[in-house]
Amino acid sequence: MDIQHCTALVTGGNRGIGEAFVRALLAAGARKVYVGTRHLPDAEHLLRAHPDQIVPVALDVTDPAQIAAAASTCTDIALLVNNAGAFLNQTLMGAPDLTAARLEMEVNYFGPLQLCRALAPALRAQGGGAILNVLSAGALVAVPGMGGYSPSKFAARAATNCIRAELAAQGTQVTALIVGSVDTRMAAHVEGRKEHPDTIAQAGLAALRKRQDEVDTDIMAVEMRAALARDPKALERSLARQLGATRLHTGR
Ligand SMILES: NC(=O)c1ccc[n+]([C@@H]2O[C@H](COP(=O)([O-])OP(=O)(O)OC[C@H]3O[C@@H](n4cnc5c(N)ncnc54)[C@H](OP(=O)(O)O)[C@@H]3O)[C@@H](O)[C@H]2O)c1
Repeated sequence: MDIQHCTALVTGGNRGIGEAFVRALLAAGARKVYVGTRHLPDAEHLLRAHPDQIVPVALDVTDPAQIAAAASTCTDIALLVNNAGAFLNQTLMGAPDLTAARLEMEVNYFGPLQLCRALAPALRAQGGGAILNVLSAGALVAVPGMGGYSPSKFAARAATNCIRAELAAQGTQVTALIVGSVDTRMAAHVEGRKEHPDTIAQAGLAALRKRQDEVDTDIMAVEMRAALARDPKALERSLARQLGATRLHTGR
């Protein structure tokens, strides 16, 4: 993947890890970055800083009409970064109904899937290009207490592997990023070590350059994968104990 001079679309590019991707792509020499955002004014700070290279695109990844419109605008992309994500901070059993779990599935699974389908022709026209799906350690290990988030990322990881096989014939690199804990609004409630979003963006670009299928971006992701390989049942018990301790602490 030649990032220099490429044109990219980053979903949820207005803040957090998505914004870090936008900045990292421009710093690496990308020609143009479409910044997918639910509210166009939220991308104005990026447009002001890089008026010739940033193109804000109204894109709620749960809205098929906006996905279709983005596909007809972003016909020149060689890279799709499926970064937009939702974590509703509910539990599967404690939530009043399935609204949160369904929304997490819509944003974290169906959204990226629809974007892959809609943008695959553009990538093919660029000789194959690449898709980078921003996933989570919760896609490797079922993390209780995070509601539908972990199941939605499991589904997205499975889809990533299937899409890689389905798009191999058109030469599209499909990469999964396994992300641990990052200092963004999504993880504002999380205590302990959190990576800077720039670290994740740099790991993502490195994975693209090396054409890697799946990469752990930070120490938490690496440790989760190692713990899973060592003893999956012990990891499951440990995560359940952590959930119990959190409940005692927060009353949730
Ligand atoms: N932070 C972490 O510890 C962590 C760990 C593992 C994986 N990740 C993953 O990293 C990705 C980025 O998360 P982040 O940490 O940067 O979180 P964030 O700061 O909360 O940003 C989330 C981004 O997704 C956008 N978004 C949410 N729902 C959307 C929708 N329906 N359509 C389009 N955009 C939508 C948000 O837009 P608005 O500004 O309009 O709300 C925002 O741009 C997500 O896929 C997340 O699951 C994060």
